[in-house]
Amino acid sequence: FQILINKTYALPADYEPADLTIPSIPFSFEEDLPKKRMRKDAARALEALFAQAEREGLQLAGVSAYRSYHRQQVIFEQNVKVKGETEANKVSARPGESEHQTGLAIDVSSPSVGYRLCEEFGDTKEGKWLKENAHQYGFIIRYPKSKEKITEYQYEPWHLRYVGQKTALEITKKGATLEEYYYS
Ligand code: DAL
Ligand code: ZN
Repeated sequence: FQILINKTYALPADYEPADLTIPSIPFSFEEDLPKKRMRKDAARALEALFAQAEREGLQLAGVSAYRSYHRQQVIFEQNVKVKGETEANKVSARPGESEHQTGLAIDVSSPSVGYRLCEEFGDTKEGKWLKENAHQYGFIIRYPKSKEKITEYQYEPWHLRYVGQKTALEITKKGATLEEYYYS
C-alpha cells in the first residue's frame, strides 16, 4: 500500500487493482456501482473503522471509492467545463493522477451535511472523529487543511487514503502529508 499518486506520479490508463471488493458499510446510494469497491485490505480496515464509529453513535457513509482511469477522465472533464482547467485541478485529479484509481481511497460523508463532500464535513462530529481516529485503522486524511501547497489540492476532510496502520500512525503523529512522508 506504499504508493504515491499525485500530480507528479501518475498511474497508467490500464492500471486496475486486482482485488476490488465492496466493503460492508452504509453508502449514500443504493446501486451496485464500481465506486462502491476498494482493494480487499482497505475494505476490511474500513469496515473496522465504520464499526467503531457506529459504536460511538456516529453516522458515516461511503460516497465514492474506486474509479477507473476512464471514469476519472469523465469527471475531470465535467469539472473543467464548469470551472475551467486551473480551478478544476484544485479539486479534481486528471485521469491517472487520482488515488481513487488505486482502490485505496474513499470519500465519506454524513447525513448532517446531506452526504455532500464539502469543507463543513470537517466540522461535523464525524469529520472530527475521523481526523482523530482514522490512523488507528490505517487511513490518513490525504488532503489536510493548510497543506494545499504540498498536496496541490484543496482541503478535503472527506478523502481517506489507506496506507496501513504503521504508516498512518507515523504520518498522523507528525502532522505530515504523504508527500512529506516520502520526500523527507
Ligand atoms: N479529489 C481528488 C483529488 C481526486 O479527484 O482524486
Ligand atoms: Zn476523494
